Amino acid sequence: MNAQIRLCLKKKKKKKKCEKKNKNALKKFSIFRYNPLTNKRPRMQTFEVDIEKCGPMVLDVLIKIKDEIDSTLSFRRSCREGICGSCAMNINGKNGLACLTEVNKDKNETTEIHPLPNLYILKDLVPDLTNFYNQYKSIDPWLKRKNKKQEGQKEFYQSIEDRKKLDGLYECILCASCSTSCPSYWWNPDSYLGPAALMQAYRWVVDSRDEYTQERLMEMNDTMKLYRCHGIMNCTMCCPKGLDPAKAIKNMKEMVQENFSTEKVKLHSNYLKEKMKKEI
Ligand code: SF4
Ligand code: SF4
Ligand code: FES
Repeated sequence: MNAQIRLCLKKKKKKKKCEKKNKNALKKFSIFRYNPLTNKRPRMQTFEVDIEKCGPMVLDVLIKIKDEIDSTLSFRRSCREGICGSCAMNINGKNGLACLTEVNKDKNETTEIHPLPNLYILKDLVPDLTNFYNQYKSIDPWLKRKNKKQEGQKEFYQSIEDRKKLDGLYECILCASCSTSCPSYWWNPDSYLGPAALMQAYRWVVDSRDEYTQERLMEMNDTMKLYRCHGIMNCTMCCPKGLDPAKAIKNMKEMVQENFSTEKVKLHSNYLKEKMKKEI
C-alpha cells in the first residue's frame, strides 16, 4: 500500500469518527406544529439539534431550529431572561418559560414542546391570549383613588411595612403558565378568572395606597370569578417566578368573607351602577 492510499484511508476513518461524534451530539425535539392557513390537522414534528453547538436553554434550541432548520416555526419571545413572559409554553408536560428551562442533556430522551394548554392556537407554539388579557383588564389593574392628589403632591406615601405586603405579588410577569395549568380554569375559562388575574386582583386589594379595597373585594365575591378555585395548587407548582398564586387566592377568599355584609353589598351595587353609567 503506497503512502497516498494510506493517507486517504486515514482521512476516511477520521471523517467517519467525526460523523459518529456529530450524530451522538444530536438530540431530538418533538414540537407541536399547526398552521391555520394549510387546513391540515396539528401534528408533532421532530427536529434533531446539535446541543453542543447551542445555548443551554430550550429557547436557544427553538431559535437555532428557526435560524438553521425551519424558519416557519413560530413562537413568542422577547427578553430571553424571564422578564417579558412571552415565551411561556409546555415543556415535557410542565408549563414554564422556554428561556429559563434548561435543556435535558440526555440524548436518549426526546424533549416534547407544546403550546400552553387549553387555549386556542394561532400558529405552532403561539396561543391566543385575548381572553387571558381581558380577564386581567377586568380587575382594574391600576391604582384607584377617591381622594385625588393635592396640588404639588408628588407621590402617595406608603410605609415600608405596607410596601412589603406587595412582595411576592408585584413580580408576576403575566406569562399565563399558572392559569393554563389550572384544571378549574380549563373547565370555566370564560367565567373563572384564573390564578394570574386573581393574584393581581389581590395585589391591588392589599395596596395601602388604593382606596377601592371594599369595591374590589365585593367584585370578587362571585361564585364563578373566585370560588372555582379548589386549592389544587397546580398554579403555584408551575410558576417560573416562584410565586404563590394559590396562597394569594386563599387570602383573598378570607378577606372577602371578613368584609361581606348586607350593607356592604348595597354599597357595592350603588358603586356598580355608577361604574356602568360612566362606561355608557
Ligand atoms: S403568577 Fe407566575 S405563572 Fe402566573 S402569570 Fe404570574 S409569573 Fe406567570
Ligand atoms: S389553587 Fe386554585 S387557581 Fe391554583 S391551580 Fe388550584 S384551582 Fe387553580
Ligand atoms: S423571552 Fe421573555 S420571559 Fe422568556
